Amino acid sequence: MPQDSSKTNNSSFDILILAAGLGTRMKSGLAKVLHKLDGRPLIAHVCRTAAALGPRTIHVVVGHQAEQVRAAVDQELGPGKAAFIHQAEQRGTGDAVLAARDALADANSTVLILSGDVPLVRAESLQAFIKEHVASKASCTILTIRLENPTDYGRIVRDDADSFLKIAEQKDANDEERQIREVNSGIYCFDSSKLFRAIQQIQPTNSQHEYYLTDVPGILKGDGEQVSLYQQSDAREVSGINTRAELAEFENLLRRRTIRGLMLDAGVTFIDPSHSYISSDAKIGRDCIIHPDVHIEGESVLGEACEIQQGSRVVSSRLGNRVNIKDHCLIIDSSIADDCAVGPFAHLRMNAEMEERAVVGNFVEVKKSKIGRGTKSMHLTYLGDATIGENTNIGAGTVTCNYDGKNKNPTFIEDNVRIGSDTMLVAPVRVGKGSVTAAGSVVTEDVPPNTLVAGVPAKVKKKLDD
Ligand code: UD1
Ligand code: CA
Repeated sequence: MPQDSSKTNNSSFDILILAAGLGTRMKSGLAKVLHKLDGRPLIAHVCRTAAALGPRTIHVVVGHQAEQVRAAVDQELGPGKAAFIHQAEQRGTGDAVLAARDALADANSTVLILSGDVPLVRAESLQAFIKEHVASKASCTILTIRLENPTDYGRIVRDDADSFLKIAEQKDANDEERQIREVNSGIYCFDSSKLFRAIQQIQPTNSQHEYYLTDVPGILKGDGEQVSLYQQSDAREVSGINTRAELAEFENLLRRRTIRGLMLDAGVTFIDPSHSYISSDAKIGRDCIIHPDVHIEGESVLGEACEIQQGSRVVSSRLGNRVNIKDHCLIIDSSIADDCAVGPFAHLRMNAEMEERAVVGNFVEVKKSKIGRGTKSMHLTYLGDATIGENTNIGAGTVTCNYDGKNKNPTFIEDNVRIGSDTMLVAPVRVGKGSVTAAGSVVTEDVPPNTLVAGVPAKVKKKLDD
């Protein structure tokens, strides 16, 4: 766990993330915090922000699909960076925090509570929030927002002196309280020992028969403790996601933000920004042109002046400079060097690698293969587990027959080879440099350098000149 607490006035603090709920309003078999936003589960967004704050510990309360939620957290932060607390039964946000009592009650620190379903909150905002809490000496500070439509949120009820009085949940609020626009964001700072003392007093005496964390500030106030309110101006940043409609809105918002940044800061052209789908983790170089319906996912990196034509998807891949991806290609976990061309309708996957100026044309699949500098494979071909040298030409309809029913076998094609149309290369097999296979050859044995083979299976016909 990061020990650096300098960012928050040298006060140590712990983070508790609530992520045990199912998220009924998602109408899903998948726990809400596992639904993806910008290609990553909601919980991963919250964890990344939490880690950026440099807390003493990060604790995550898990319950529904606990294993998958743990895996998502570990994938984002690295194993062992967060500690998990199991909430056996989901009896409300108060019960979720109570489950963390043994882990945090003696921490004698500030606890920052975050919700697994509030993914857009920025580290800078939380930093300012914690700082304010620590400076105020309050037992509890609630991060609030004003919403045009406060429906479904807990309303912040203030007393005559305009100080905090209580939180009224949507389902329990009276008509007057429902008019209140200031709502609870579900983000709080608590003094840990006071939190866990007060939380033992909460009762599920509400319309949902749940233990509400939102009762705790009221209890503290009743005990004469100071409860502060901290109003955040950017409401969207701390809004929660409760439905698929909200998830889609957030996706749209993030996407627009990413694409705007790429246009204004990175110098990327989008033919139609509203129909382009770019991960915020992707890097795209200057003068790239992105056509409509292109998806660039994961931590993909594109160099300068690449052009990605309509309908192509690039996932966790690296492209050099001036790479031209034609229409409707799928490129996953692969790397493409400068001045290559791919597609239309090509599929690169599992560490496919193209060296400079290589060309892969229509209906060509390249799996776990390396294609050398200037080599071309233009039409209707499968290259699997193959290592291909430089300036070689692979004829239309060529297949590396790499699978014998048990094992995947390698094919080696050396430099300056011409593989004739419809050649079957029955792996393991090697075609020596400068050799030629005639159209329709079935190559079952290694071909020496500078040799022409033909037939089924292919036989040596003659030695070629160097
Ligand atoms: C909660 C607040 C509400 C606030 C809103 C802001 C309560 C009672 N209400 O309502 O005042 O305006 O957040 O977004 O707290 N969770 C658990 N275990 C449980 C129940 C929930 O871990 O037993 C987790 C959920 O996974 C979720 C978070 O707590 O990440 C919030 O729960 P949710 O049911 O979404 O609360 P809201 O109804 O949105
Ligand atoms: Ca919520």
